[in-house]
Amino acid sequence: MTDTVSPTSTGTSYDVARVRAHFPQLREGEGLGAAHFDGPGGMQTPDVVAQAVYDTLTAPLANDDTVTSAERNASLALTEGRAAIADLLQVAADGVVFGRSMTQLTMDLARTLAQGWGPHDEVVVSRLDHDANVRPWTIAAERAGATVRWADFDPETGELDVEQVAAVLSDRTRLVAVTAASNLIGTRPDVPAIAELVHAAGGQLYVDGVHHTAHVAVDMAALGADYFACSPYKFLGPHCGVLAARPEVLEPLRPDKLAPASDGVPERFELGTPAYELLAGVTAAVDFLADLVPGKGPRRERLLVSLAAVEEHEDRLRRRVEDFLVSTPGVVLHSRAARRTPTLLATFADHDPQDVRRHLAARNVNAPAGSFYAYEAARRLGLGTTGGLRIGLAPYTDDHDVDRLLEALAESVGGA
Ligand SMILES: Cc1ncc(COP(=O)(O)O)c(C=O)c1O
Repeated sequence: MTDTVSPTSTGTSYDVARVRAHFPQLREGEGLGAAHFDGPGGMQTPDVVAQAVYDTLTAPLANDDTVTSAERNASLALTEGRAAIADLLQVAADGVVFGRSMTQLTMDLARTLAQGWGPHDEVVVSRLDHDANVRPWTIAAERAGATVRWADFDPETGELDVEQVAAVLSDRTRLVAVTAASNLIGTRPDVPAIAELVHAAGGQLYVDGVHHTAHVAVDMAALGADYFACSPYKFLGPHCGVLAARPEVLEPLRPDKLAPASDGVPERFELGTPAYELLAGVTAAVDFLADLVPGKGPRRERLLVSLAAVEEHEDRLRRRVEDFLVSTPGVVLHSRAARRTPTLLATFADHDPQDVRRHLAARNVNAPAGSFYAYEAARRLGLGTTGGLRIGLAPYTDDHDVDRLLEALAESVGGA
């Protein structure tokens, strides 16, 4: 066993060198070889995903249908893409909607759901969320004359407690929009408990899983989400978006659509021609995730084993970074919730996070600074215009990356 292989508590092992071999951008070379801590903005893409996109585009390809091989290739990309997401989220393939981005899908769904809202209805959003799970709902509510209620989080602990959501629920609540994990500070609220309360109040729950899906295995039913959105480019896939729901939840909804376009579910929600090549990339990304720990058996089972191993791997590396940050005078670590992803946000008493980011970049260590569209959360944390330095771990992060980060940080902000 080499030191790149870590045993996990489930009896498997995680071989990060094997994983990294699939990322040409991580190799030494001109413009390459950065230590990437920028995954929360979009992970690096493995060769197999790029290959799947290339293979789809260079094979015969037409609009999906059954007569020519070009049509069948398109059809296959679509059905395989839906099946892959179905395994990833534990949802029916017929409930998987593809779109350009999570933002676009959420804007569209908010407009559709708001057709049924009026002045007596209430919509709940949280201050912890990325703006993509806030503004679509506040805009739609405003147009419908519905009331927006805000669930706050505690900036001291970073927690969005169930009670903070309960406080703004009522028998008028139609929809609650909440994140499964904050892309700013990593907090993972207790979504199943929130779901129970929302459903007891008679509302529906829309869960932003964009940051969460990269790090933790998802089971939509166990989360209690009526809708769950994620973005494949955050979990090693190509740039597109996914909205998932049980088909019976989607069935009564009437989104705007073209007259000749399918009225079936989920096609009704997909405007225009699907990006077949990207969907092939989505399938390759889910297969790659399932194979992070090589094994046999159904893809869903392999995903669970692999993602559990990744979680342990990332948590171990996170603790290394965290130990450094908490022991360095003048560093404020904003990621403090009891349950969180391996994403750390820091500010500095004597340094502008943008300067720290530039210092790291000059040493080929990529960790961006800002507020990352978590607009309300950044304001609540008092981050100001320069935001914080965000350090995100990914399945390809290794100890050497962390050594490079800590060394560059020590030069920049002090510490061991
Ligand atoms: C938590 C979270 N939600 C939503 C989004 C928006 O996703 P998309 O770029 O697919 O619209 C992001 C993107 O950074 C995110 O991190």
